[in-house]
Amino acid sequence: MTNIVLIGFMSCGKSSVGRHLCKDGKMTLRDIDAMIIERAGMTIPEIFKTIGEKAFRDLESYVISLVKNYQNTVIATGGGVVLREQNRKILKNSGMVIWLKTTPENVLKYTQQDQNRPLLEGNKSIEKIREMMAQREPFYADCAHYSINTWENNLPQIATKVWDYYQEFNSKKFNS
Ligand code: S3P
Repeated sequence: MTNIVLIGFMSCGKSSVGRHLCKDGKMTLRDIDAMIIERAGMTIPEIFKTIGEKAFRDLESYVISLVKNYQNTVIATGGGVVLREQNRKILKNSGMVIWLKTTPENVLKYTQQDQNRPLLEGNKSIEKIREMMAQREPFYADCAHYSINTWENNLPQIATKVWDYYQEFNSKKFNS
């Protein structure tokens, strides 16, 4: 079965949607951040603090390079995975890519108590989030086959949309 790749800004719900899509056990969930943590033997904030963002991005690109080998997998990515063109290319060629869109207001709300996102540490303002989202939007758009507005849909509705897109994506693939 074709892979499903979930992309989108921090706290848009990639992991929750991924778990929901895999709950019947038909597809396997792989979380890119969890794979990075396992490889590094450190949490994400520890990686950023000790070896820095560039080393984190290198690890992320390495883990993304493994995605080519997956089948029947839902891949939940980190929000910055689209920053590198090589990652975007690999993801786009590895399955159906869904961009889960969120709003700066929701990002602020859902990351308020969060100590786990080093890029939002210190200066967690709506302006900073808006700026980061605007900078990344063209990259998400470049990578995605489809997008879903998370603020207009609950989890089961998002899952239904994903499966509808999945059917369409697969029928296009086999008809072209
Ligand atoms: C990042 C998002 C995080 C994690 C790291 C960097 C980013 O993942 O990969 O902190 O650059 O947006 P989530 O999107 O799951 O928070």
